[in-house]
Amino acid sequence: MIVFGGVMGICVVNTTPFAGQKPGTSGLRKKVTVFSQAGYLENFVQAIFNSLPADSKGSTLVVGGDGRYYNRVAIKTILKMASAHGFAKVLVGRGGILSTPAASCVIRKNAAYGGIILSASHNPGGVDGDFGIKYNISNGGPAPESITNAIYEHTESISQYYISDVADELIDLDTLGTFKIDNMLVEVVDSVADYADMLESIFDFDAIKKMIASGFSLRFDAMSAVSGPYAKRIIEDILGAPKGSVVNCEPKEDFGGLHPDPNPVNASELVAIMNSEQAPDFGAASDGDADRNMIVGKNLAVAPSDSLAILAAHAKLVPAYRDGLLGIARSMPTSTAADRVAKHLGIPCYETPTGWKFFGNLLDAGKVTLCGEESYGTGSNHIREKDGVWAVIFWLNLIAVTGKSVNQLVFEHWLQFGRNFYSRHDYEAVESAAANKLVEDLRAKLGQLVGQQFGNYTVALADDFSYTDPVDNSVSHKQGIRIIFSDGSRIVMRLSGTGTEGATLRVYLEKYEADSKKFGLDTQEALRELIEIADSIAEIKQRTNMPEPTVVT
Ligand code: G1P
Ligand code: ZN
Repeated sequence: MIVFGGVMGICVVNTTPFAGQKPGTSGLRKKVTVFSQAGYLENFVQAIFNSLPADSKGSTLVVGGDGRYYNRVAIKTILKMASAHGFAKVLVGRGGILSTPAASCVIRKNAAYGGIILSASHNPGGVDGDFGIKYNISNGGPAPESITNAIYEHTESISQYYISDVADELIDLDTLGTFKIDNMLVEVVDSVADYADMLESIFDFDAIKKMIASGFSLRFDAMSAVSGPYAKRIIEDILGAPKGSVVNCEPKEDFGGLHPDPNPVNASELVAIMNSEQAPDFGAASDGDADRNMIVGKNLAVAPSDSLAILAAHAKLVPAYRDGLLGIARSMPTSTAADRVAKHLGIPCYETPTGWKFFGNLLDAGKVTLCGEESYGTGSNHIREKDGVWAVIFWLNLIAVTGKSVNQLVFEHWLQFGRNFYSRHDYEAVESAAANKLVEDLRAKLGQLVGQQFGNYTVALADDFSYTDPVDNSVSHKQGIRIIFSDGSRIVMRLSGTGTEGATLRVYLEKYEADSKKFGLDTQEALRELIEIADSIAEIKQRTNMPEPTVVT
C-alpha cells in the first residue's frame, strides 16, 4: 500500500521483511529472480540508509554498477530512494556503469559519503543470472562488518521504505550532465575519466607507451563485462595499443554468455591463444565488475598469489611506489609467497580473513601498501577495492622498465624465493546441510589432528582462523579451517560467502618447493599428496557426493 507522505513527492511504502537479506563476503548476492520481487531491492536499500548516521542527509552518494541485467532498473530505484533519504547529490556513472574500482575511485576523489555498487562480480549475469548490491563507505571500500551487521538487522525489522514518485522515464542515465530528482542533484559522470587519470598518476605511462610503440603485443580479454570501456580507453586510446588489443570489450547484460571470472577455466580462449604460436607478448583478463585480474604469459597463467609477491618484490619500479612499501596484506587462504617477499624487504605482512573489506583498516592506517587474494584480486592503497585494470598496468609497467617477459619475471622470482605450488579446488552447489556438517565435524576434530602424521606430512597447527583487526581490535571468528604442516605446507577449507546456489566448499592447497629442479612439476602433481590428505581428513568426496571438484584453479 502506498501512502503519500505529502513532502515533495516522497512516498512512504509499507513493507515486510524478506528472509535472508544477509550481506556475505561482498554484499548481498541473489538471483535476479529474487531481486526483482516487489519491494526486495527497496527493503535492502532502505536498510542501508537506515543504518547510516543522520549526517548522511545532505551529503553526496556515488552509484554505479557492472552493467549486468537489472542494473538500470536498480539504479533508478536507488536514485529515487536516495532523494527520499535526503542526499544532496548523487554521482552516477553514465549508463549506470561504474566498475567496482572506478566506484571506489569516484567516492574518494569526490569525498563522497559513500557509494552503492550494483554487481555480483564474476557470478553469471542475465535474466536467470545473479545480481548484487553492496555499500561502500567514505574511504571507498566495502562497509566493515559493524555496518553490514547493522544493515542486516534493519532488513529483519523493516516496515516502511521511502521513495520519490518521480517517473522512471524522467531519469536519464545516458547524458552527461546534471538534473534534479525533487531536491537532490544527480550528476551523470564519465564512467572512465577519473579512473584513467588516477592510473596515469600511478604508473610510468611513457615507458609503457614506448614499449607498445616498439611492437610489444598484448591481448586483454574483458569477457563482455565492465572492464571493457576502461581497458579500451586506457590500453588502446591512451597507451596506444593497436585496436583489437582489447577483446570482448562491450559490457553486455548477460556477458554474452561468457563467465567473466578470470581464471584458466573460464578464460580458456585467452589461455589457448597464449599457449599457441600466435601468442602475443602478454595476456590478461578481468571479471564482471573489473576488480579481478588474470595475468598470462606464454604457456603460463600466473598464480594470483605469485602475482602479488612479484608485484611487491618489484614495486619500487612503479612511480607511485618508488619509496617502497609500508607492508603487504594477504587473505589467509592466499599462499605465503608474499610473506617471503615481505621478510626479504623487512616489512610486515598481515594475514586477514577472506574478503576485501578486511584490508580497509590496514590501508587507512598506513600499515600496508599492497594487498591481494588468491582469487585473482590484487590492489593497493590507491583505492579501497581490488583493481583488475590497475594490476594489468602494473605488470605492463614492470615489463616496460625491466625489459623482461612475464615468464622471465615469474621464473626469476621462483629462483630467488622458491615456488609456492598452489591450487584451489571448489565443490559447488553442495547441499547446504551436508556442507555445514562437513565443516562442523572438521572443526570438532581439529584438536586431535595436531601432531598426527599423514605420509610425508606432520600437522603442526590446526585451527579455525580468527582475526583481530590490528587497527580497531574487532574480532572475526570462524574464518576458515587451517591445517598447517611442519614444512609450511597448508590445507585451508572454508565455505564460500558469495555463492547463490546451495553451498560451495573451497579447498586451498599450498606446498613450498625450494628445489629449482622441481619448479617445472605440474601443480596438481606437486600437490597430489596434500589433495589426498585433505580428502582423508574431511571426507570431502563422500560427504559432498562429488568424486571431483567442480572447478580447479
Ligand atoms: C570470493 C573469493 C574472495 C573474494 C570474494 C569477492 O569469496 O574467494 O577471495 O574476496 O569472492 O570477490 P567467497 O565466495 O570465497 O566467499
Ligand atoms: Zn569482481
